[in-house]
Amino acid sequence: MCGIVGFTGRQQAAPILLNGLSKLEYRGYDSAGIAVRDGEHPAQVVKAKGRLSNLVEKTDEGKALSGTCGIGHTRWATHGEPSQINAHPHVSGNCSRSGSGEVESEVVGVHNGIIENYTELKEKLLKHGYTFYSHTDIEVVIKLVDYYYKKYNLGPIDAIAKTMVRVRGSYALELMFKDYPGEIWVARKDSPMIIGVTDGETYVASDVPAILKYTRNVYYIGNLEFAKLTPGEAHFFNLDGDEIEKQTTEIKWNAEAAEKAGFEHFMMKEIHEQPKAVKDTLGSVIKDDCIDLSAVELTEDEIRGFDQIYIVACGSAWHVGMAAQYVIEDLADIPVRVELASEFRYRRMSLNKNSLVIVISQSGETADTLAALRLAKEKGITTLAVVNVVGSSIAREADKVFYTLAGPEISVATTKAYSAQLVAMYCLAVQFAKVRNMITEEQYSNYLSELMTIPDKIQKILQDKERLQWFAAKYANAHDVFFVGRGIDYAISLEGSLKLKEISYIHSEAYAAGELKHGTISLIEPGTLVIGVLTQSDLYEKTISNMLECKSRGAYLMGLTTYGNYEIEDQVNFAVYVPKIDEHFVGSLAVIPLQLMGYYVSVAKGLDVDKPRNLAKSVTVE
Ligand code: F6R
Repeated sequence: MCGIVGFTGRQQAAPILLNGLSKLEYRGYDSAGIAVRDGEHPAQVVKAKGRLSNLVEKTDEGKALSGTCGIGHTRWATHGEPSQINAHPHVSGNCSRSGSGEVESEVVGVHNGIIENYTELKEKLLKHGYTFYSHTDIEVVIKLVDYYYKKYNLGPIDAIAKTMVRVRGSYALELMFKDYPGEIWVARKDSPMIIGVTDGETYVASDVPAILKYTRNVYYIGNLEFAKLTPGEAHFFNLDGDEIEKQTTEIKWNAEAAEKAGFEHFMMKEIHEQPKAVKDTLGSVIKDDCIDLSAVELTEDEIRGFDQIYIVACGSAWHVGMAAQYVIEDLADIPVRVELASEFRYRRMSLNKNSLVIVISQSGETADTLAALRLAKEKGITTLAVVNVVGSSIAREADKVFYTLAGPEISVATTKAYSAQLVAMYCLAVQFAKVRNMITEEQYSNYLSELMTIPDKIQKILQDKERLQWFAAKYANAHDVFFVGRGIDYAISLEGSLKLKEISYIHSEAYAAGELKHGTISLIEPGTLVIGVLTQSDLYEKTISNMLECKSRGAYLMGLTTYGNYEIEDQVNFAVYVPKIDEHFVGSLAVIPLQLMGYYVSVAKGLDVDKPRNLAKSVTVE
């Protein structure tokens, strides 16, 4: 949520800031702003409500602002409505109604995160004569920095350290001090931030895509650390103001991975990248016909020792957990509980000490998932993160890390990261089953062979996508859509329903098919679309009966099943098939038509597929 960028070097800053923000717009798009300094001159601030394109226009693509040092922000509103005055950057002094113009203030800054005690801090500052022009928490933080800066007169290090001790919440903060031209000061707690350096230039951003074009050498700044950035250099400090040594890490993603490559939307591009994401992820652990978890640092003794698995995640990553629980329980015979991270972190539950907590996260920065991970660690429980972003907070804090190799995912609605997570979980399930002697060698190698067929089978589904486009256009005006399934099919229904609602704004719900008669069926009206997922042979008859109960009440049925189940044509109005595969892994195939369905409905409605309203990728606030 919210994206921040910064640059100090030899080139003009504004075009670099705007370019970086364009790569981060998926993190928030309520408003955007930049502040640029030319040598010793005061910063120039320009802000615009709405999409980044408004700011690009207002600054004449950055040409209107001269200077080689600057900071920028794209906002997902938390405190204060989306408006120009609430847009970042904010300043320590007063500001015009437009929020734009030359800034005489001591401090100017941008922020991603949430400051929980901002009201209390605001009261303190009001007593000291500060006034406020916006409704944001960040204005309070910047004025607090200004307060300590003036009170102690000891420079940015002390002012920032004192502020960090006083504020509660999460922040990735960038500041420029009037008396320190060419310098950007950054501070971080629980919100993502990376710092890139090249010869004579330094970049800062919330996420890798914003700086990939310029450098792959990045520093990760830790929690409760802050840094001074000057052209080509970064100096890091702890809360005591002592300097800390850090090494750069090389980012392996290439810049093209974060571009659309000829597709109309990132989502469609990412849907098509799924065979590769799955193949790369499987290939990272399946070697010489065996699963090798040495890179994850999970030993066979540990695998044998667990009595229980908790899978903790949010949104689609939680849906991966829901699907994986059926596979793990069935193959490895170990109890699995799947928990929403936002619930898990506040639940007073007793956790089995011999358990494994698996957290799943694409971004590795989701606030609730990170908090759940920390809670498990505090309780002395082994933690394993299935995570896509290298060096993210979750990846750094978990005991063990299984990296999914999906590459950068830009579209807010996840597709390829979901698919990569799912196959990572299958690999864990199969390996647990083998090590715990629940399957024979022959079964083991059969499961591995089946897993390796997933990429090609996804490719095959993608080749037949036009049928779904036609169907989606027909249902683009639907008011309600229901998804039903049992077992793994229920887990896939959850994901199909989320994909549809989040990007098409059609109300949709997923139900375990057996639950329909316990209330939901009263919502079925003539013409209501009910989509049934029917890939599990032992549950097929049950789910189809539940669907037919809806049909008798006027519902229109779409059935999603595997090739061979052609009798479905007599029962549903529209049938969709995916290739056959071992039924444990069929979720990886069944989800593809549902992703396409959500995509095509959104396109048919003329909506912004990659940036659905009110949403942002990487939810770094609770
Ligand atoms: C939906 C979607 C979200 C994320 C959720 C968790 O399409 O993308 O539901 O799955 O916000 O995000 P990560 O995986 O980054 O923790």
